[in-house]
Amino acid sequence: MNQKEIEDLLNKMTIEEKIGQMVQIAGDIFLSEDTNSMLTGPLKDLHLSNEKLYQIGSVLNIVGAERVKKVQDEYLSKSRLKIPLLFMGDIINGYKIAFPIPIAQGCSWNTKTIKEMTEISAMESSIAGANVNFSPMVDLSRDARWGRVMESIGGEDPYLGEVYAKTMVKAYQGKNLSETGKLASCVKHIAAYGAVEAGRDYNTVDMSEREFRQYYLPAYKAAIEAGAEMLMTSFNIINGVPSTVNRWLIQKIIREELGFKGIIISDYGAIEETIAHGYSANEKEAAKNAIYAGVDIDLMSSIYANHLKTLCLEDKEIENKVNESVLRILTLKNKLGLFENPYGNLDEEKEKIYLMNPINLEKAKQLTQETFVLLKNRNHSLPLQKNKKIALIGPYIDNIGITGSWSMFSDKSKNSTILDVFKEKIGNQVLYAKGCEILRQGEFNKILSADGLPLIQVKNEEQKEEELITSAVETAKNADVILLALGEHYRQTGEACSRSTISLPENQIQLINKLSELSKPMILILFNGRPIELNTIEEKLDAILEVWFPGTTGAKAIVEMLLGEQNPSGKLTMSFPQNVGQCPVYYNHYNTGRPHNNNLRYVSRYQDIPTESFYPFGYGLSYCNFKYTELYLNKRKINENETIIVTVKIENQSEYAGHEVVQLYIQDLYGSVVRPVKELKAFKKEYFKPHEVKYVEFYIDIEMLKFWNEKLEFVAESGEFKVFVGGDSVNVLEDKFELIMSL
Ligand code: BGC
Repeated sequence: MNQKEIEDLLNKMTIEEKIGQMVQIAGDIFLSEDTNSMLTGPLKDLHLSNEKLYQIGSVLNIVGAERVKKVQDEYLSKSRLKIPLLFMGDIINGYKIAFPIPIAQGCSWNTKTIKEMTEISAMESSIAGANVNFSPMVDLSRDARWGRVMESIGGEDPYLGEVYAKTMVKAYQGKNLSETGKLASCVKHIAAYGAVEAGRDYNTVDMSEREFRQYYLPAYKAAIEAGAEMLMTSFNIINGVPSTVNRWLIQKIIREELGFKGIIISDYGAIEETIAHGYSANEKEAAKNAIYAGVDIDLMSSIYANHLKTLCLEDKEIENKVNESVLRILTLKNKLGLFENPYGNLDEEKEKIYLMNPINLEKAKQLTQETFVLLKNRNHSLPLQKNKKIALIGPYIDNIGITGSWSMFSDKSKNSTILDVFKEKIGNQVLYAKGCEILRQGEFNKILSADGLPLIQVKNEEQKEEELITSAVETAKNADVILLALGEHYRQTGEACSRSTISLPENQIQLINKLSELSKPMILILFNGRPIELNTIEEKLDAILEVWFPGTTGAKAIVEMLLGEQNPSGKLTMSFPQNVGQCPVYYNHYNTGRPHNNNLRYVSRYQDIPTESFYPFGYGLSYCNFKYTELYLNKRKINENETIIVTVKIENQSEYAGHEVVQLYIQDLYGSVVRPVKELKAFKKEYFKPHEVKYVEFYIDIEMLKFWNEKLEFVAESGEFKVFVGGDSVNVLEDKFELIMSL
């Protein structure tokens, strides 16, 4: 359709039909034999009549060619104007193939890797009928207590957030949305959701505008500049006003300043929640606040469906806003080609051969390997030496549940376990004992009760626990090396999974302590969705491989890495705290007037723990040993039109080939507002042959030196800067230069 035809269609619509386009519900209702009974059943809380049902504009989380076609056909058969539904979903870390969770993907520090994962995910889900994906989540995340850090692609760094946001939006959308394998990207959650107080989900966010613009906004901005078709609001308030009805945020920043022309959807029920926030007095006012702020689609509440019509009759301005919203929605449907073919890029034939195909599974395994972070490797305990007996111990050894909390669509039939893969490769060298459950039942029951689910009672839990530990110790006695697979339960991470303790579960720590009495080399493979507190157990472990929730091909990827067929190259995107009391801890903080020094008294520090993080941002080891020397700047004074070339010599002092993420940080030593101690400004992932020496080059230009100054202008100021280059944010070489602005 051309623009004129879309406008003509808009003019044919009744006010009810227009409002319907602005409502999204779960699509299951259309799959029911009897929609009437569904309306008195599952959807009764939404107060939607049968008539309104066939006017809605989009549905949530229906994917799969057959299901999508059925829903679309049923809907179109009864809808007057036959405007196709949009199918939106949470295909967060893949559709049928589950890739590593987003925080893990970010640890690859490789945009090519992230692009490839996103493209496979886009192809799999769009041929299965998805039109819009609620991804990426680009909320800057500094607090490990927050369960949703697992979804954050850039972790605690605004620059990584920017780079990855751009990569993912482009990979989902391509050049043309009606191309095979493409779908619209809905970037979330605007805004600053990651800054919820005390890491408690949905909690208050209060921050200065400068802080917001400097650290939180860049990733959303990058996504908009990359052409994201949609944005989702966040559940939190920002400076007193819920994001979903925040006119400053949506109108001034997102629409006016950043020029966003696409659709804004509320988060799940978020318009209605503005009542509980104490902002809207009632449902009608909530509808008015949201439409005035500029929310186009009400996700899973009946506020728009039940109140917009009255509001339109009372206020011409609201009717205009409804027309604008509907035009945006029709425009997206048109870009997806739905008016020509209501199934869009859905392709049943392709679905049969493409989903879970062996080529993609092999690719997925390679990509997954880039997301692992080697946190410790005392005495080169990894890779495992040949011909040693290995005791495989822990609840994640014989477990296919390693796809993470958003992997509801993934096909688990191809997941293998670490045990399966070891048996296949070196069956005669491995012994196995479970050692413990992931969580004690009491702990798991807390999660079930928070979800309103019935609790599970177990008999003789203590006795069983004893038996599991005893058998693990006996098994370990017969081995040369102990390989532990431990971590969080996947239901301890994700939405509504904030935790006030971020250590491993107590029963797992008990297992580690018991096994450490054997004084055998002990290696930990860590499954988790957030930085974990490791300080009490780290000494007992010789090596730690962080694998997050690695997805469908995780087990194969892990075993190959442990055996030295692959070499770890991931780097952390979130600092690991010494303990939970240090949260939020992040590398790009400001100095105080009394910068920390662990040996002085009246300085900014803790009495009981070091001030530094346990593992810093950017950190990750390799089987290679990389040595950085000869940091060189070709100029030490520049004006705003000049560029500095920075070079560094890196030598791979090992027999292994591998990748290193070379990182460049800058510190602006003084300014009209204080600046962080370090900020990541560039990185390169380089491949090294054994013993290879390389000179790696970066450019520093004025854009890297800009910040939101005292007057809230984005500018660079004359002054001195430090440059740091290294393999993480702490172990760096440094030098200095001066910027002299000629204006
Ligand atoms: C989450 C979103 C998600 C939406 C739709 C909400 O609860 O916050 O991230 O996209 O549900 O499922």
